[in-house]
Amino acid sequence: MIMGYIIAIDGPAGAGKSTVARNLAKRLKFTYIDSGAMYRAFTFKIIENNINIEDKENLVHSLRNTDIKFQNGRVYLDNNDVTEKIRSREVDMLVSKVSSIPEIREIMVDIQKRMVINENIVMDGRDIGTVVFPDANLKIFLTASIEERARRRTKENRSKGINDKYEDVLLEIKKRDEADSNRDISPLRVANDAITIDTTNKNVEEIVNEIIFLMGEI
Ligand code: CDP
Repeated sequence: MIMGYIIAIDGPAGAGKSTVARNLAKRLKFTYIDSGAMYRAFTFKIIENNINIEDKENLVHSLRNTDIKFQNGRVYLDNNDVTEKIRSREVDMLVSKVSSIPEIREIMVDIQKRMVINENIVMDGRDIGTVVFPDANLKIFLTASIEERARRRTKENRSKGINDKYEDVLLEIKKRDEADSNRDISPLRVANDAITIDTTNKNVEEIVNEIIFLMGEI
């Protein structure tokens, strides 16, 4: 298997992972893969098709028959564009539960590994540097204060026409952080060899520049 250069970006909700990863990939002409969007897309499918989340066999069967693709910055679920739909409140509320199921993670990690063959990539998520690509060339862990993360997510939602209150967003992020950090399988944690960047007072360009600088350092 021929691997390209892999940059893993992990961190909690609202730390700026996807914005940084997307811009970084653009600057480097690397492929960007948003692993969270994959968990979100499958969660959306579960909701749409009323699949019982306790029925593991059915879940696995359904995921094995699911096609998730990224094209021109859009996310396709079984050939339907679900880019906006996977950011809904309903998906937010259920995604951590879905992604805590070992059988589901196993299949997703397998898909993610196969997506990168022969490509230079930036992939963001929760377990990219720890589980998906423990041998990534560069591992970054992005953080920011919880208040800042909730502020960013509230603003991001507003720009998409979702008018959730800051307090509700803060609570939702707290719950998801807790679930993601405390699950048994592949919990959110900093990989030993990851470099942590606190994004609280930095803009996207500064962070992207910092990561490109780090590429030359290691
Ligand atoms: O953008 P945000 O940080 O809110 O979330 P996301 O990256 O879209 O991920 C949504 C959820 O998927 C997370 O809260 C995790 O529960 C799960 N996830 C995961 O378990 N492993 C990943 N590699 C990526 C996401």
